[in-house]
Amino acid sequence: MTGKPTRRVIPIQREVGDGLDSRERATVAAACGRLKAEAGSLLPVLHAVQSALGHVPKAAVPMIAGELNLSVAEVHGVISFYHYFRTTPAGRHVVHVCRAEACQAVGATALEAHAKRLLGIDYHGTTADGAVSLEPVYCLGNCALGPSVMVDERLVGRVTTGRFDELMSDCRAPAESS
Ligand code: FES
Repeated sequence: MTGKPTRRVIPIQREVGDGLDSRERATVAAACGRLKAEAGSLLPVLHAVQSALGHVPKAAVPMIAGELNLSVAEVHGVISFYHYFRTTPAGRHVVHVCRAEACQAVGATALEAHAKRLLGIDYHGTTADGAVSLEPVYCLGNCALGPSVMVDERLVGRVTTGRFDELMSDCRAPAESS
């Protein structure tokens, strides 16, 4: 018999949670375990994971999909629809610039262009030194004092380009060692 030898292809089975470290895997498993019985559990799970890890790692998507009985595409779709969710770690400081109407009426558009230029990043980006992530936000409830910016948990109003530069120098200053 001179037929070609047959080749058996052994599929490589990826483990759910591959690409996550043990802490990330435990966090995702705990969030899914706690919330998956709720109707519409995907958003609460994504919030819980981002709140614990600072982002929703791309490698967590198949695990979340499997736990919630959804397709990977569905989970990806929700993460990319809501800009709030990030799939890469944020910088040490997260700066939100208000893009809503009242702030735009008093210069927020110029301020956001300045912010992007100064930091060298677009929205959802992080500076190369890891100091600042830049995010848009649609109203910070500080409309009378626009343009408004939130630096981490700190709300700042009437932000000029000069004031923005000062805020960013503080964010990018090396941390003082104690
Ligand atoms: S519109 Fe910017 S804080 Fe409300």
